[in-house]
Amino acid sequence: MEKKKVVVLTGAGISAESGIKTFRDADGLWEGHDVMEVASYDGWLNNKALVLDFYNQRRRQLHEVKPNLGHFTLAEMEADFDVHIITQNVDNLHEQAGSKKVLHLHGELLKVRSDHSHAIEIMDWNNDLTIGDVDSKGCQMRPHIVWFGEAVPALDEAVSIVTQADILVVVGTSLQVYPAAGLIHYAQSNIPVFYIDPRPATIYDLPNPLEVFSLNATEGVPLVRDKLLQKTHDS
Ligand code: APR
Repeated sequence: MEKKKVVVLTGAGISAESGIKTFRDADGLWEGHDVMEVASYDGWLNNKALVLDFYNQRRRQLHEVKPNLGHFTLAEMEADFDVHIITQNVDNLHEQAGSKKVLHLHGELLKVRSDHSHAIEIMDWNNDLTIGDVDSKGCQMRPHIVWFGEAVPALDEAVSIVTQADILVVVGTSLQVYPAAGLIHYAQSNIPVFYIDPRPATIYDLPNPLEVFSLNATEGVPLVRDKLLQKTHDS
């Protein structure tokens, strides 16, 4: 029998129990940071050193954290389901946990790219990025992050994946940032949607059957996995 396609939309909450701060919780990443200073193109033009420092700190921290049971459970689910992860996170904890199909909507911390719009070079980058780190044409490199106001290049692919889902699981996102938050509305209207978040957002105008679990990812993801396995064995 063909495996059911489980599409999982993840946000900062899935990495919270690994020790990476979310953005909008109290004591979140944006507290103490002016978002537009560190996560917009204008901010970059204004103070490259500040922006580089912000992402250098995030990159350094990534070398110290490990995936948690939420990430590992999603990776294990590939044995029974065709799992596609669409993540807003720039960490690589899904990949570290072993997930094979991971689409990053907002870029990746361990990559950098040229700071010009033509013939962009993207490189793997593990250490600090500094002023003077340039591409083959001598152009300054910038974090490979989708900043506020920038286009989301992976959006079309994400929409196409969500449209084909048999089951949609949403984990650890406040659903505040578009277009990512709008992806759930591309699901076929009859498929079940599960939303795991200790402080879930209210989801309006979704025709789908929706089950909300006000739980942390490490509790909620295994619970939903068990439910899905149960349903598969019953049918
Ligand atoms: N398990 C699951 N969810 C959790 C946990 C946990 N242990 N702890 C917190 N959360 C939830 C919060 O309740 C909140 O709903 O994670 C969510 C985090 O929300 P945000 O901080 O807004 O993060 P996210 O939705 O991923 O933000 C989207 O905003 O700033 C941009 O580009 C950045 O990708 C990011 C985007």
